[in-house]
Amino acid sequence: MAWSGQHFLSLDDLDREDMIVLMQRASHFLGAGNRYDLDAPLAGKIIANLFMENSTRTRCSFTIATKRLGGDSIDLLGSTSSASKGETLVDTALNLEAMGVAGIVIRCSQENGTREIAEHVGVPVINAGSGTTSHPTQALLDAVTLTRHFGKDDLSGEHIAIVGDITHSRVARSNVIGLTKLGANVTLVGPPELLPSDVGCETSSDFDSVLSSVSATMMLRVQFERDAKVGEDYRERFGLTEDRARNYSGAILHPGPINRGLEIDDSVANIESSPHNLILSQVTSGVATRMAILEHLIG
Ligand code: CP
Repeated sequence: MAWSGQHFLSLDDLDREDMIVLMQRASHFLGAGNRYDLDAPLAGKIIANLFMENSTRTRCSFTIATKRLGGDSIDLLGSTSSASKGETLVDTALNLEAMGVAGIVIRCSQENGTREIAEHVGVPVINAGSGTTSHPTQALLDAVTLTRHFGKDDLSGEHIAIVGDITHSRVARSNVIGLTKLGANVTLVGPPELLPSDVGCETSSDFDSVLSSVSATMMLRVQFERDAKVGEDYRERFGLTEDRARNYSGAILHPGPINRGLEIDDSVANIESSPHNLILSQVTSGVATRMAILEHLIG
């Protein structure tokens, strides 16, 4: 592996082989199902989940992944921590380390927050989403989901669309890095005002034209909490509507949470709508992928 494996901060730090090793380990854990009688590489270790922003999937899956590896976890949430009294992120992390945790999983609004913490603490740090730039465990679990769907080790030859509010999406930025390293051709789709040109791949505002040529499409949530603004015609132009889905046979992904009826129609979001709807497979892959990362860094 080229990656030092001390922290998991960005897919920029990993090469294609590093990703594939972790993805294969995640697939192994997926094959083991929900059993708890696996080896327990985290036995006797406590992982701190430091979440300064809200989360359902990422936080719960890190907790479950830790427990399935035989470890234990504690959760510290921004709203109830002393960060609400002005304590810095680094001080918060140093205090958790002083209590003896074996690793820190962190979600924060600062773009460089996780790297700054990694520079100050001696335990592994895992980026569970930072600012609008990086969500590397999500991108790795998306790659696990897609490679298993296509039955391949990598994504060479696949054309994948990421659609919606690209401007505010750390999922999009990390996926561009990860999917490209695995050989996929990625097109970002959205209205011009939500489509930055500096993400490093081709862009389009013509969803129908892109949809006709892709093998997978990842719909993104419009992030109203980050002041995203969309026009009245957003669903019609950029939503995966029933009409669009009827003529599309590729894989459907969404990292969640979903704005049902906006970026994806209610019926299309339901997994029974299509054998190619991978939205809940992504969530299941999330536990296994985080197990692979925790085992590698801390186990
Ligand atoms: N996909 C994702 O990061 O979801 P949560 O915000 O619920 O963790």
